[in-house]
Amino acid sequence: MYVLITALALVVAAAPVISFAPAPARFVPSRARALNAAAAGDAAGSGPLRARLVGTGSAAPETRVTNDNIAEWIDTTDEWISSRTGIGSRHVLSADDPGLASLAARAAASALADAGVDAADVDLVIVATSSPDDLFGDAPTVAHAIGASKAVAFDLTAACSGFLFATVTASQFLHSGAYKTAVVVGGDALSRWVDWDDRNSCILFGDGAGAVVLQRTEDAADSGVLGFALHSDGGGHDKLQCAYNGARRDLATSTGASVTTGAYAPITMDGREVYKFATRRVPEVVAEALENAGLEAGDVDHLLLHQANIRIMEIVADRLGIPREKIITNLNEYGNTSAGSIPLALEEAVRTGTVKKGDVIATAGFGAGLSWGSAILRWG
Ligand code: ACO
Repeated sequence: MYVLITALALVVAAAPVISFAPAPARFVPSRARALNAAAAGDAAGSGPLRARLVGTGSAAPETRVTNDNIAEWIDTTDEWISSRTGIGSRHVLSADDPGLASLAARAAASALADAGVDAADVDLVIVATSSPDDLFGDAPTVAHAIGASKAVAFDLTAACSGFLFATVTASQFLHSGAYKTAVVVGGDALSRWVDWDDRNSCILFGDGAGAVVLQRTEDAADSGVLGFALHSDGGGHDKLQCAYNGARRDLATSTGASVTTGAYAPITMDGREVYKFATRRVPEVVAEALENAGLEAGDVDHLLLHQANIRIMEIVADRLGIPREKIITNLNEYGNTSAGSIPLALEEAVRTGTVKKGDVIATAGFGAGLSWGSAILRWG
């Protein structure tokens, strides 16, 4: 009986997807496949969502640190960093700059301007970040700064997968009809959290933020989030972390209680293990998201991966059978900006005309958690 009820619930949950009849055939999973997915325990809700991407923006700090600059204080070279990672420079918040929330607000405001959407009409603001100015969250500050006075705003933490996880989360609110307009910001200031004397990790990271404006579409054929797949595995948590290590203090009470006062250790990373994880999991998850979108690798116009390492991007493209020319990257200029990297590169690609209205973009994020995910987006 329980199995029957569960199966019925999954079929009912699949109904909105099945009812997307007017959409072009290649963007809609077949009825049979949706039902199979339901029978297999997948709610078939990972196909097209009623959300369109209507604007994008970005912001990066002015201060630029080149590989040669880094070689002034640690034992490395521009040649080593460029050839192993594809990174030539990174932008960092200097001590006198306003923080991450200000960067995120600039990205969000420019995305709204690009979309021609009034901040007063925004229902939801999600800021994906692991490095907020305030541990209690930056999103309300960002919403206030841009004038999104009626929006509910919250942070979402999923490291370098954060922007994708937040985009899918916001799209669900639009798909359900709860909200009409959302702003999703991905941004990080990991320069505050790297050990600038650890040459294994400090060469990789920079600061930056990017944003998109999403709107609900009543016409399923206009879907801009065609399919997605999200995963996490806490078993790999220690491969990349920025862990709490507050100072111990014994409270002078009869309870014998001891507490700790807040501090975080700098980022630690097992680069080789993260590299292996990324090259294995990212091709899998993009293939899964394509399958959920009812698309194939040949339908992809652009491959936009988290900007961690150009070698990872090339291996992923090769494994998926997507030509390397379709890779979107600005890694050389900005390095790894964590949750900021995908929207930062998207904004540049849209602004320069690389990405055009209607283009299909296979995106994927991966990183600490461990977490990884892919969304197949259609621009405009
Ligand atoms: N300059 C010079 N030499 C270096 C440097 C450096 N900056 N860093 C390491 N080396 C040395 C190592 O000490 C090692 O020397 P050894 O052979 O004498 O021991 C040698 O170079 C090779 O080191 P590897 O770690 O094997 O180098 P690799 O080719 O794997 O590249 C890298 C290292 C770039 C970190 C790579 O492993 C990588 O990109 N991994 C993925 C990391 C990543 O993407 N992290 C972010 C995830 S996103 C997020 O959530 C924040």
